[in-house]
Amino acid sequence: MTLSTESLYDRASDDWERNAPLLLSDYTARPFLLDWCEPVRGRSVLDLGCGEGYFARQLKRRGAETLVGMDLSSEMIARARKEESREPLGISYDVGNAADLAGFETKCFDRVVAVFLFNYLTRHQMDVVVDGVFRVLKPGGSFVFAVPHPSLPFTRSEEPPFYFSPGDCGYYSGQDQLFEGEIYRRDGVSVPVRCIHKTLSDYFRCLRDAGFTEMPDVEELHVTPEMVETAPNFFGPLVDQPLHLAIRVEKN
Ligand SMILES: C[S@@+](CC[C@H](N)C(=O)[O-])C[C@H]1O[C@@H](n2cnc3c(N)ncnc32)[C@H](O)[C@@H]1O
Repeated sequence: MTLSTESLYDRASDDWERNAPLLLSDYTARPFLLDWCEPVRGRSVLDLGCGEGYFARQLKRRGAETLVGMDLSSEMIARARKEESREPLGISYDVGNAADLAGFETKCFDRVVAVFLFNYLTRHQMDVVVDGVFRVLKPGGSFVFAVPHPSLPFTRSEEPPFYFSPGDCGYYSGQDQLFEGEIYRRDGVSVPVRCIHKTLSDYFRCLRDAGFTEMPDVEELHVTPEMVETAPNFFGPLVDQPLHLAIRVEKN
């Protein structure tokens, strides 16, 4: 039987706890996404699927006025709160489902971020979340999110430091199918991850249906020559491969 997302993250929460770059995506995605959230100073931010708070803490340190983190996994939130008591930054963390943002007022956030959340949701679940995101964003506010690149499960073999197993599924027949995978940490620990597959067009259709009419910014993130130079054994196998899809869209 497939483990629920909550159980997967409750069990893996030790592996996610960090205060410095550790997982592959701490190098290949999160620094880029943080920069995309700028300007952050004085802004109100909602981090959906915040995990143990690694990304939220960095946003708060960049001067966010209010920062709310929400995650389905109570263990991930327990770790986020433990870190908040160890070093109080003024972040509030809630256990909750990103599909239910009813507790937040309309137009109350300048930024909403979702860093590798949608790969845990079906297309329908993503539609519900993005409808809520559109509602809680202020006009002029932006929504920043990242997902595994939709082609990754089909272009990479099942090898470290990052892969998903599509089984017999193809790019279209795999829509809404769950692919298990692994992402590695720099210390060699492998961490279980999942991808409920969506095509490129699924993301753009979802944004448009929710009411976003501005042209989104899109980046296909990958390893850089600097990363490979620093740690050739770790980053080398990923050269020339699209790893993550990053999207930023403004509400007008
Ligand atoms: C890959 S982790 C990323 C954690 C964090 N965003 C980061 O960048 O370190 C995905 C997180 O999404 C959470 N998640 C999955 N589905 C969710 C949902 N429907 N609502 C809220 N959180 C969810 C998981 O519990 C997990 O903590």
